[in-house]
Amino acid sequence: MTDIRDRKKDHVELTVTEGTQYDQPSGFERYRFIHNALPEVNFNEVTTEATLLGRTFSMPLFISSMTGGYSEAGPVNAIIAEFCEAENLPFGVGSQRAMLEDESLTDTFSVVRDKAPNAFICSNIGGAQLIGGLDTKRLTQLMDSIQANAIIVHLNPLQELMQPEGDRDFKGILDGIEQLVKDTQLPVIVKETGAGISEHTARRLLNVGVNVIDVAGAGGTSWAKVENFRSSNQSANHGFDEWGIPTVECIQQLSKLEWEQSFEIIASGGIRSAFDIAKSLCLGAHFAATAQPVIKAIKNDEYTGLEKLLNQWKKDLKTILTLLGCTSVQELSASHLQEMK
Ligand SMILES: Cc1cc2nc3c(=O)[nH]c(=O)nc-3n(C[C@H](O)[C@H](O)[C@H](O)COP(=O)(O)O)c2cc1C
Repeated sequence: MTDIRDRKKDHVELTVTEGTQYDQPSGFERYRFIHNALPEVNFNEVTTEATLLGRTFSMPLFISSMTGGYSEAGPVNAIIAEFCEAENLPFGVGSQRAMLEDESLTDTFSVVRDKAPNAFICSNIGGAQLIGGLDTKRLTQLMDSIQANAIIVHLNPLQELMQPEGDRDFKGILDGIEQLVKDTQLPVIVKETGAGISEHTARRLLNVGVNVIDVAGAGGTSWAKVENFRSSNQSANHGFDEWGIPTVECIQQLSKLEWEQSFEIIASGGIRSAFDIAKSLCLGAHFAATAQPVIKAIKNDEYTGLEKLLNQWKKDLKTILTLLGCTSVQELSASHLQEMK
C-alpha cells in the first residue's frame, strides 16, 4: 500500500511531464476571437479585475488546489501563497485528508495563512471523506488550519478507480455535500479533477446548496495517465486515459443552468494561457482556474517562475480585451468568438 504522502509527492513529479496530459483537447481551439480593428479603447485604462463569491481579484484566475501533506509540499504552498497575497489572486490548498489522518502534517497547509494573511484561500477535501458526514472536530480542523474563506470538495471517481489503493465506494457523497453545506457558514465549491462536471451532475449539486462549480474538465491533466505512470506495466489500464468531458463542453452545459439557479462557474482543466481564460469567460464562465502550469513554473524557477508565467497571462489578457474593444472582463461575451468550421 502506498503512503498518502508518497502518492501526493508522485503526483507533483508526474504531472509536470508531458505524458500526463490529455491528447483530446479542452475545446478552446475550436474558437477564435473576432478581431476589432477599431477598438476605441485605451490599453492603459483596461482592467483585468474580476469577482468571485463577492470578492474582487486582480484577474479571473484561481490557482487550483494541488499540494500539501508531505514535507516538500510546504515550500510549494508557501510560494503560491506569497504570490497570491502579492497579486490578489484566490487559491486552494491540496487535499487536507493527509492532515486529518496525521496532525503533524498540518504545517504543510497552515504555512499558506502565515504567508498570505489577506488572501482568499480555500480548504480542500475529497467527496469520499464526506460519506456519512464529517464530524465537527474534523471540519473545524480543516478550516481553522488555514483560516479558510471557502471549502472545496473534489470529486475524482476516475482517479480513485485508477489507483490500486483508491476509494471504491462513492455512495453517499451527495448527502455528505448537503450536510457540509448545512454545517458550515463558508461557501462550498465543488470541483472535479480533470474529468469534468456535466449539466446533470451540476443540477444535483446546486439542488443541495453548492455555491460554485469548478468544472475541471478534460483537456489538461489526465489522472488516468498520471495513475498509469505510477502503476506497474501489468496493472496499467490505458483504456481510460482519454475519459472525460472536455472543458468547453462542461462550461456550455453548465451555463444553461444559470437560467434556473444562481451560482458561479469556474472553468478549468487545460487552461494554459490568457486566451483560454478569455474564451472561458466569453463562453459563460465567471472565472478560470489552472493547476499544472503553476506547478511546472514553480519546479522550473520557484517564485520567479510563477511570477513570470502569470504576469505574462495578465498582460496577454489585457491585450486580448483591448483587441476585442473591451475595457473589462465583464464585457466579454459569446459575440466575441467565432466557432471555426
Ligand atoms: C500536482 C497536482 C496535485 C493535485 N492535487 C489535487 C488535490 O489535492 N485536490 C484537488 O481538488 N485537485 C487536485 N489536483 C487537480 C487540479 O486541481 C485540477 O483540477 C486538475 O489538475 C486539472 O487542471 P489542469 O489541467 O490545469 O492541471 C491536482 C493537480 C496537480 C497538477
